[in-house]
Amino acid sequence: MNERDWDRVAGAWDDHIMSSLEENVNGSIAALIASVAASHRSILDYGCGVGRYLPLLSRSFEQVVGVDYSRLCVEQAGALTRTLPNVRTHTTTQFARSAPGARFDVVLMANVLLHADAKIRNRILDLALARLRPGGTLLLLVPAIESVHLAEAVRLAYTRKRVSAYARPAGGVFDPGVIAINGQPTKHYSADEIPLLLQARRLKLDSLARAEYSWDSESFEGLDRRLPQRPWDWLLSATR
Ligand SMILES: C[S@@+](CC[C@H](N)C(=O)[O-])C[C@H]1O[C@@H](n2cnc3c(N)ncnc32)[C@H](O)[C@@H]1O
Repeated sequence: MNERDWDRVAGAWDDHIMSSLEENVNGSIAALIASVAASHRSILDYGCGVGRYLPLLSRSFEQVVGVDYSRLCVEQAGALTRTLPNVRTHTTTQFARSAPGARFDVVLMANVLLHADAKIRNRILDLALARLRPGGTLLLLVPAIESVHLAEAVRLAYTRKRVSAYARPAGGVFDPGVIAINGQPTKHYSADEIPLLLQARRLKLDSLARAEYSWDSESFEGLDRRLPQRPWDWLLSATR
């Protein structure tokens, strides 16, 4: 997806995007943000979308900036945070122009590194990391490939759904983590590949945890009471 696609999503966000923060049933995202906020003052929410993380970040940090390359997402994020004096929102273009030297204690990227093309993902990550001050902390939320394996096993064993939401994307360079979700090629990460992503950028992994969601997020309603495991994203913090 490109910025125009995200502009289109902005108008009907809740129809397309699950709010990771609101749907995170084990509370690991809010807990990690709280623990990092205890020793850091400023945070950049890179790829902030319509701003779902910004109110919590506003309560947790002194200075909060949300940036996104979708102008319509940024407009909505700006409207949501109008009354929050410590929050600013910008498009990535505006931000590069108006504050080229701004650096942050923490950079958050919540489900932003999703592009099928590794070169594009690397470029976005490097642009975001250029905003992290030395010694700062990166918070990353990314889809877990292991969760797709679990969800498919659960679908077959516990549901009557014959058609999966997941599929192999057509064409493209082989990457076993790139899976189409309802037709949209989306990068998923394994726990084993995450350290490699960080090592290449001299980041040290501090924590790797599951951000769990209910089975309703897979449209497998009613399964939470019956199963010990739930679908999840990988949530990590890393420093450099
Ligand atoms: C799945 S949404 C997540 C939004 C938000 N982080 C959240 O969790 O609610 C992905 C967001 O990343 C943004 N994005 C994707 N590529 C980007 C890039 N190169 N620069 C800035 N934002 C980008 C999209 O516009 C979209 O708003």
